[in-house]
Amino acid sequence: MKVTFFDSKPYDIASFEKYNSIDGMEFRFYETKLNEDTVNLAAGSDAVCVFVNDTVNAAVIDALYANGVKLIALRSAGYNNVDIKHAFGKIHVVHVPAYSPYSVAEHAMALLLTSVRRIHKAYNRTREFNFSLNGLIGFDLHGKTVGVIGTGKIGRIFAGICGGFGMKVLAYDKFPSDNSGMEYVPLETLFEKSDVISLHCPLTDETRHMIDSKAIDSMKKGVVIVNTSRGGLIDAEALLEGIKQRKIGAACLDVYEEEADIFFEDRSGHILGDDILARLISMPNVIVTSHQAYLTAEALDSIAQTTVENIRSFVRSDGYCENELCYRCGNIEHCKKERMQKCF
Ligand code: NAI
Repeated sequence: MKVTFFDSKPYDIASFEKYNSIDGMEFRFYETKLNEDTVNLAAGSDAVCVFVNDTVNAAVIDALYANGVKLIALRSAGYNNVDIKHAFGKIHVVHVPAYSPYSVAEHAMALLLTSVRRIHKAYNRTREFNFSLNGLIGFDLHGKTVGVIGTGKIGRIFAGICGGFGMKVLAYDKFPSDNSGMEYVPLETLFEKSDVISLHCPLTDETRHMIDSKAIDSMKKGVVIVNTSRGGLIDAEALLEGIKQRKIGAACLDVYEEEADIFFEDRSGHILGDDILARLISMPNVIVTSHQAYLTAEALDSIAQTTVENIRSFVRSDGYCENELCYRCGNIEHCKKERMQKCF
């Protein structure tokens, strides 16, 4: 099984290298992202291994198929960058549904605490021997209401962490869980009542820009928005406007809609072409991390292990892989839960 890796960074290579040349697997690592210009690097491969900012649209899938690629192995949980519908019948798609949901949930809380206790400001001040506290007043999380949108693996852990801080948790999910013990409310109620809103649902056509100007208008003044899910959930222009109007108290962003050509790379010597991101970063109440929430040693190990197991199960004679993203019945989320065989 020849596997071509795209968007592979030194830390990816380090976590996968130990599986290379074992059980007939042969890895080839490319730093470049997968897109229409780079797809031919996969020629001669049985599988490609991709990450969140690789482009796996219809044209790329057709080119992969023409090159004989049979499997797309995502090193991520989210799969919004893959046209699964188009891949159906041509190339199987597998993902890593869970690697360390704690990594993302803990990062969301790290961002939230940094923001509400102004740690990012204090860190810079004390390095310059500025020990003034002016402008650093934060607020207690205890007693505040947090709205958790998406109560899957990460959302539930984040809700639990918030519970530990003595916060009241309100939840919204399109498919609420019967046994989570959470208080589910309509999305509008969550927007109206939450002091903090944290996003943990996938990016789909339905959830794209779920935080838009209308949603922001209905939120509490001073609301803190945390997004460790996908950038496209938030209309960044509306977010910026909400911050300028002082409606939004703070934003903690690990993801950004147009991150694909910016995040994960050192752009420090360049002029940032994205004015909205530049303006957001310039705000004292906005913290941006570069899609870093998953980046723990535990998560990287787990991603490599599950990805290799996904490839191995695909090679096995029946080809069934429990982590296949199946489009057979047109509903990936539900189909995955019910089927016990290959997608096609
Ligand atoms: P999950 O699949 O366990 O949970 C997602 C939840 O969202 C489910 O409960 C689902 O019912 C719900 N949902 C689906 N459609 C919805 C809608 N229209 N409105 C509200 N809720 C909806 O996924 P998990 O593992 O908790 O991950 C959540 C998201 O976190 C992923 O989709 C991914 O985009 C993001 N993520 C970000 C990482 C980072 O490094 N920043 C790393 C890993 C995941």
